[in-house]
Amino acid sequence: MTLAAPEPLADVYLPRPARVEEVTPLTDAEIFFRLRAEEPGMVHGLPGQFLEVTVPGIGEAPISISSSVTRRGHGGDDWTWEMVVRRAGNVTAAMHRLAPGDRIGLRGPFGTHFPVDSRETRGRDLLLIAGGLGLVPLRSAIQYVLDRRRDYGRVTILVGTRSPADRLFIGELAEWAEAPGVRVLETVDTASPDWDGHVGVITTLLPRVEVDNARTTAILCGPPIMYKFVLLELHKLGLPDARIWMSLERHMKCAVGKCGHCQINGRYACQDGPVYRYLDIARTPEAIG
Ligand SMILES: Cc1cc2nc3c(=O)[nH]c(=O)nc-3n(C[C@H](O)[C@H](O)[C@H](O)COP(=O)(O)OP(=O)(O)OC[C@H]3O[C@@H](n4cnc5c(N)ncnc54)[C@H](O)[C@@H]3O)c2cc1C
Ligand code: FES
Repeated sequence: MTLAAPEPLADVYLPRPARVEEVTPLTDAEIFFRLRAEEPGMVHGLPGQFLEVTVPGIGEAPISISSSVTRRGHGGDDWTWEMVVRRAGNVTAAMHRLAPGDRIGLRGPFGTHFPVDSRETRGRDLLLIAGGLGLVPLRSAIQYVLDRRRDYGRVTILVGTRSPADRLFIGELAEWAEAPGVRVLETVDTASPDWDGHVGVITTLLPRVEVDNARTTAILCGPPIMYKFVLLELHKLGLPDARIWMSLERHMKCAVGKCGHCQINGRYACQDGPVYRYLDIARTPEAIG
């Protein structure tokens, strides 16, 4: 079954009620949430898409969907979404005060998605590269791919984090590495005394992986600085810009192409992003920064 990107609800401005089902701190600054829709009619969204989360009385913030539509428990109108929220300002701090049972609002899903269900990826080797909080949206794509493992070739997942204390989804990284034909390599920029894994920026992992440039599609999710250096390495490996995809986060408010907060050189990232094929933005210097 091929899943088309879902249309957001007709009234894209109206937050729909949802309940907080699980709240689990992952690090000092990031909390994992599971949210459940309280009304029929919402859809889950595809990897790379985001929801606008409203904390009543405080405000709204765009947050990536970290779970996959392919996971059990999703179906009919009984939707749950997983997210990880880093404390940044008012809305995210208010989210950090939420407890199971609290009510919030959700709008969306919005934006473009990673090409997990297209000829860009089906039958191809995948190189999935996550830096820092980029693992949150990329986890949705990873779950999707692992749930449809036979549709893809070799899967290589590279994960880079600032320090061992900032690592996300530690147990899941080990589970993913157990899947057939899946390789997971992790690195931290700075080690702690108890870290015996790889140390170095994420590009130092690339010489350790085999990339068949004729068969590989790369999907990147991380900070702009990561894109800059990873792109240099992918180009050295001979990967064409048409087979490199990335998510570009911008300040967003309305998510429906009205407020202009998310503009990248006249383009609205909430509409034709956040996921882009690199070929389409390679000539937009503002995109990568
Ligand atoms: C498509 C998309 C997906 C996102 N997914 C996630 C996610 O999964 N988890 C998560 O924790 N955050 C995510 N963010 C970032 C999150 O939306 C912002 O941190 C949040 O809006 C900040 O709102 P606030 O009211 O808490 O802070 P504010 O008071 O609005 O801002 C606090 C600080 O954060 C800065 N800031 C706000 N938004 C951004 C932004 N987009 N990029 C860089 N700096 C920003 C402000 O300039 C300020 O310095 C995503 C953003 C976008 C656009
Ligand atoms: S967030 Fe308002 S136009 Fe994109």
